[in-house]
Amino acid sequence: LDYTINVDAQGSGPAIDRAMYGVFFEDINRAADGGLYAELVQNRSFEYLPVDNRSDTGLTSWSAVSSSGGSGTVATVNDDARLNERNRTYLKLTLNNAGAGTYGVLNSGYNTGIAIEAGKTYDFSVWARTDAAGGTSLTVTLRNQAGTTYAAPVQLAAQGDTWRRYTGTFVATGTTDAARLAVEAGGDGTLRLDMVSLLPRDTFKGRPNGLRKDLAEKIAALRPGFVRFPGGCIVNTGSMYGYDAASGYQRARAYQWKDTIGPVEERATNANFWGYNQSYGLGYYEYFQFAEDIGAKPVPVVPALVTGCGQNRAVDDEALLQRHIQDTLDLIEFANGPVTSTWGAKRAAMGHPAPFGLDRIEVGNEENLPDAFMARFVKFRDAIAAKYPDIIVISNSGPDDMGTTFDRAWELNRANGVEMVDEHYYNDPSWFLQNNKRYDSYDRSGAKVWLGEYASWDNKLSNALAEGAYLTGLERNADVVTMASYAPLLANIDYVQWRPDLIWFDNDQSWGSANYEVQKLFMTNVGDQVVPSTSSGAVKEPEPVTGAVGLSTWRTAARYDDVAVTSADGTTLFSDDLSNGADRWTPIAGRGVWSVVDGAYVQSDTGAENTMVEAGDESWRDYDLSVKATKLSG
Ligand code: AHR
Repeated sequence: LDYTINVDAQGSGPAIDRAMYGVFFEDINRAADGGLYAELVQNRSFEYLPVDNRSDTGLTSWSAVSSSGGSGTVATVNDDARLNERNRTYLKLTLNNAGAGTYGVLNSGYNTGIAIEAGKTYDFSVWARTDAAGGTSLTVTLRNQAGTTYAAPVQLAAQGDTWRRYTGTFVATGTTDAARLAVEAGGDGTLRLDMVSLLPRDTFKGRPNGLRKDLAEKIAALRPGFVRFPGGCIVNTGSMYGYDAASGYQRARAYQWKDTIGPVEERATNANFWGYNQSYGLGYYEYFQFAEDIGAKPVPVVPALVTGCGQNRAVDDEALLQRHIQDTLDLIEFANGPVTSTWGAKRAAMGHPAPFGLDRIEVGNEENLPDAFMARFVKFRDAIAAKYPDIIVISNSGPDDMGTTFDRAWELNRANGVEMVDEHYYNDPSWFLQNNKRYDSYDRSGAKVWLGEYASWDNKLSNALAEGAYLTGLERNADVVTMASYAPLLANIDYVQWRPDLIWFDNDQSWGSANYEVQKLFMTNVGDQVVPSTSSGAVKEPEPVTGAVGLSTWRTAARYDDVAVTSADGTTLFSDDLSNGADRWTPIAGRGVWSVVDGAYVQSDTGAENTMVEAGDESWRDYDLSVKATKLSG
């Protein structure tokens, strides 16, 4: 290898923004509930429904339990006795205990259970009402399946048939990743419970209703310049189903920030695009607070009433559009407005009188109906500019399909004088190596680029190196590419809808991928200015594709939990449990590496179906799919 790099130490290239590298947080792979949000009780408000996931009910992760001969019945109910209009379902216990008997419910948390660490403090709370004249005694325990306890029990006395919040504290005497939380009641009568919560006191920065410390610390260690939230596909896709003026309250709707602030018991829940219930315990206030805590700019993404993510439909409802535009103006007031303003006062009431310093906002996510999207985007942009002229309003280019949609989106972004455009792409490592010069030819006087989502298709060292090489191309073009964020950020190993991911975790451990280490290297060493350099010499080219393995079949099994790729001769190349209980999975044409078999990547080819696999069809489906093997070189 004879290779020379010439550095022009006196030359000056583009300045690099301190906020160039950030993180993209989306509630995918249970990144929020069961992940970054520190709540340990799953389905704490009994709001899970089959619309969230077909196997869900109000009792998901709950089971009945009794002690000392206690008995009763348990059901979830949605009626006029509900806690409030947004928290609609509650737990109804009909008690029939004799003597010292108790009856109640047991929560199994996430993954293997509830993670408890000896010596740490845990805050328990529950909303309750009872029709027993003398009140109802509650015994709350942290225990394992066999009944061994991990802390002294919490004893409470519920009084009266109106909703009241009761609290208690555990100090753990043991360590486990498989505890259960049991809430048992004595006596007779009807006891109603809601919002059964257990939060570690030791959250990131000690924030109440806070974030899981190890995960937040791993994100903070990246020193992100910005935090993009709350997604991704979850932002807008719900809007396809979500608006029903008649009911006024509906599941599976777009992510609407007003659903996510205020007291947690008054926040809505939603059917997450990725196939599970989403509590909004981690909501907009917490996102802003987290960004501030780690010294990052907050960058929210609001729905634009057009959906990408395989659905490709636009909502034609001007009144709804105007409401979303107003919601977006209100969001800016929530973030930055004085405490005397309507929404600034709500921020102050939640504990943050000072503004959060929002200076940019994204409208829409990865829209692949460019004309429909732009027609809506300009209305958002113009309304925001009229009231908040200093806020940067970010558009997007749709997914980079290297074809008409992407090109049309850019044409429209340019024609409408858009200030910044969010690009997304996922590809194999060789693509990242071959496209280092992508931005060398971008228009220097046009829109700035935010590479809001990108990754090469795996978490191997070779992927991380390819991404690192690519980042040098972004930095060289820092006058055009002003922001970049790898995606997705987090994955709970037992609830995976998408891989690769930057940080992986279960209920008590977390670890960064090789890709994380590369991100950290760049993010914690952001330069001030590019120093021009040239290189010369012979470079070893990556080895080429070694050939196709033949026409194959991709099959989804019942509930789409399993996928298998078989070669033409019937050999199974790989099979995988893809979604671990999620309802949907999106096969996307040409989107890369799925697995590694005998030193080769098995990769989807562009002939694959590009179809959303909808919940509701439990039969096997065959798709003709060409797979090819790419030899791993080096
Ligand atoms: O990062 C995962 C998904 O990829 C995002 O939700 C979406 O924007 C993109 O298609």
